[in-house]
Amino acid sequence: MNSSEIRKRYLAFFEKRGHAVIPSASLVPENDPSVLFNTAGMQPLVPYLLGQKHPAGAHLVDAQKCIRTIDIEDVGDNRHLTFFEMLGNWSLGSYFKKEAIEWSYEFLTSKEEGLGLDPNRLYVTVFKGEEGIPRDEDSIKIWTDVFARNNVTNGLAGDDGIITKGVRIVPLGKDDNFWIAGTTGPCGGDTEMFYDTRPEDGNIEETNVPFEDLIKSFRIMEIWNNVFMEFNKNAEGKYEKLLSPNVDTGMGLERTTAVINGKTTVFDTDLFIPILLKISELIGDESESSQTPQAKDRAKRIVADHLRTSVFLIADGVLPSNTDQGYILRRLLRRAVRLSDVLKMKKSSLFWLADVVIDIYKDVYPELLRQKETIKVEIDKEEQKFRRTLVHGVKEFEQMVAVNKKNSIKIISGHQAFKLFSSYGFPIEITEELAKESDLTVNKAEFDHEMKEHQDLSRKGAEKKFKGGLSGTGVMETKYHTTTHLLNAALKSVLGNHVSQKGSNITSERLRFDFSHGDKMTDSQKKAVEDFVNEKIKESLDVTFSEMPKTEAQEMGAIGVFDDKYGDIVKVYQIGKDQTSNKIPVSMELCGGPHVNNTNELGHFKITKEEAVAQGVRRIKAILE
Ligand code: ALA
Repeated sequence: MNSSEIRKRYLAFFEKRGHAVIPSASLVPENDPSVLFNTAGMQPLVPYLLGQKHPAGAHLVDAQKCIRTIDIEDVGDNRHLTFFEMLGNWSLGSYFKKEAIEWSYEFLTSKEEGLGLDPNRLYVTVFKGEEGIPRDEDSIKIWTDVFARNNVTNGLAGDDGIITKGVRIVPLGKDDNFWIAGTTGPCGGDTEMFYDTRPEDGNIEETNVPFEDLIKSFRIMEIWNNVFMEFNKNAEGKYEKLLSPNVDTGMGLERTTAVINGKTTVFDTDLFIPILLKISELIGDESESSQTPQAKDRAKRIVADHLRTSVFLIADGVLPSNTDQGYILRRLLRRAVRLSDVLKMKKSSLFWLADVVIDIYKDVYPELLRQKETIKVEIDKEEQKFRRTLVHGVKEFEQMVAVNKKNSIKIISGHQAFKLFSSYGFPIEITEELAKESDLTVNKAEFDHEMKEHQDLSRKGAEKKFKGGLSGTGVMETKYHTTTHLLNAALKSVLGNHVSQKGSNITSERLRFDFSHGDKMTDSQKKAVEDFVNEKIKESLDVTFSEMPKTEAQEMGAIGVFDDKYGDIVKVYQIGKDQTSNKIPVSMELCGGPHVNNTNELGHFKITKEEAVAQGVRRIKAILE
């Protein structure tokens, strides 16, 4: 069963059971500057997990694009990736453990509608209770009943967490079976599902190996996590009980595809094989490389992973830069460029991999096809840019090594690593890789320190102009959010209807808005846009929203992403809707909110920058004074 079939079956299974299929949110969180990327399916849904009503209802299902850079060092092994898709079904204050677990079992084992896995190779963990939160007896009972009904042995493991004869349910502690994204937010105990990937290695129930060790040796692989969200962990670290609990589940598509097809690595699936084949094709004569086959495989996997992630990032409006999301993209691409040299791939051939990635995903993520040209141009541009300094940087590195060796120093100092970054654009991973090849290490803590200082300084420089008098981050972000809707309307009015949103990013200090437009804006156009927004602010227009069927929103002329997959009911925010005079609102946009109540709360709008970010895409940065 290939990945498309698994994704399709998952969405269909839950849709049939009353869940609305919602599209993946962008990789870049819309209104949460505290994280760079969505790292789990639940992240774009946090407001709804905390009680806000979701326009598509209380039962949702989706495949969410996620990025986790925390695992970047491990990419190249059998299962770590920087980009992955998380399949998830959601109950927003509606069904709870019983339905969630029963459906999980059914989806995993049903041959007709699900994955058709052998229940005798399934093992589940539950929260054993810790720190004042009791053991999850409900989940234990529900799993026991489900297994018993299906004639599957269902014993409970003891405190040692060892699967002995007949054991299928393993209670584990907070480190394993309590889930929270980061340090605060909705959270709770969870139950995780594992699959025995190598039954041919002998009966797992006779190995007497602790569960944790079976995970480490990849004998069993986690494929699904059901989180039972009962708390919100607040900034003081206290667990507040949620008014109504939620279910948040996550199934990693890449891993599941591997497991189902009896593969031991995610790279041996339809999601990666074409990319790896293309890399081999671009290498030409493999015998030229001096690497061991293992090192070569690892390098190919890293290039495949990093290019795939880069394609998705650019499609979501991220471009290479030295800060935030742009810096992550730059690091991924530059590391791929260097490894492509190590692999002896043809120079400037990386962007060809984008075609392969887009081909794999084009039906599920149409934004990739829409942005195809931009994606290829940006990848190639970054490769060219890096190549201008790469050779000199490697020379400088070799000189550093020579000097250090002469003084018997086996470490590249943080300062040296920073010099390679600031003068030659070397991300830390490249310096670390080069160091490793010369049997040296890098003082990363010292590098991070210098890097942070450097970024803080450049941020301060940019923000100096509009510091002071701000009333708390949440409030400012909300204001910028509403201002973004006004700006979108202003651009359409001043530049024309071809303007459409390509990306948006908000912090408490400014808004950033990317939109389709071919030419640099003239001063008078910029002024006209500012005037338009400031006029609407002065007019004290109400900001209201209503929920309506998608078709109605479309007929009404609301703008936004009308994805085919979107649930039937959508939320439309209107600015300046006037019941009595039938006046057309200034702005009608599909949006989850939140917004200010009236434009008179916004202050004075000013564009601080207008620049190109890609061919046919302009970027405006603007502030409220
Ligand atoms: N939020 C849970 C996870 O990411 C489902 O594992």
